[in-house]
Amino acid sequence: MTLFDLLIDFHKEAPRQGPGSPEETRKAIYLLGIENQTNLAIADIGCGTGAQTMILATQLQGQITAVDLSPIFLDELNQRAHKNGVAHKIQTLACAMNDLPFQEEKFDLIWSEGAAYNMGFQDAIRYWKQFLKKGGFIAVSEISWLTHSRPEALTQYWNNAYPEIDTVSNKIRVLEENEYTPIGHFILPEYCWTEHYYQPMISRFDTFLEKYDHAPFVVDFVQSEKEEIIQYNQYKEYFGYGFYLATK
Ligand SMILES: C[S@@+](CC[C@H](N)C(=O)[O-])C[C@H]1O[C@@H](n2cnc3c(N)ncnc32)[C@H](O)[C@@H]1O
Repeated sequence: MTLFDLLIDFHKEAPRQGPGSPEETRKAIYLLGIENQTNLAIADIGCGTGAQTMILATQLQGQITAVDLSPIFLDELNQRAHKNGVAHKIQTLACAMNDLPFQEEKFDLIWSEGAAYNMGFQDAIRYWKQFLKKGGFIAVSEISWLTHSRPEALTQYWNNAYPEIDTVSNKIRVLEENEYTPIGHFILPEYCWTEHYYQPMISRFDTFLEKYDHAPFVVDFVQSEKEEIIQYNQYKEYFGYGFYLATK
């Protein structure tokens, strides 16, 4: 079993696979002002098990293509869509986000919560732009610095983990440099990390360890997830997720 398989197995039962919340997805939709538009063609890229897909499907009128590398996450998403009565609005596609099979200018809206980092923010918004209609919208949440300065150890950690982490103003600059017009941005509140992401994760640690009989690589995996939570609690004033909204 690879680390990716283990990650999928651990996170497939989670309400979501990254920080966020229904309230914040709704807020982003509201800021775009698209609730009354009809026949929207929407892509939800790096959708995971579909926490935000369910909100998009209930709030917006149109069809959603939910894309993720993991067919296991997509199976879970389909089950949730059936339970929520929105299956008729969602098609799933197991596919790499940097090799999408879509025709140019297919979508009115490209959505991606906590997933663009897999390509890197700039490469993602650049590559996905061809699939957006002119005047279409993009909504991306992305790890960001919340302050101009911060402890050196934290800078070093993130420069290794994800060198594209940057300030909010620089994320917006990247959107502008790639010929998007910014519409708005906001920072995900702390409960998007704690209540919606870390607490459900903590409650699964013991049963997950038992499932794998405390195998050393699973113990190491759980430990690394715990360290991520410790780091968040220690440094949460310096980094978080920005939600960036723009139009082509
Ligand atoms: C942090 S999770 C976010 C999931 C979901 N949007 C949420 O907020 O709950 C990132 C997602 O990106 C997916 N992913 C990772 N690399 C990918 C790739 N190259 N192409 C498509 N999806 C990918 C993962 O399977 C995972 O579901």
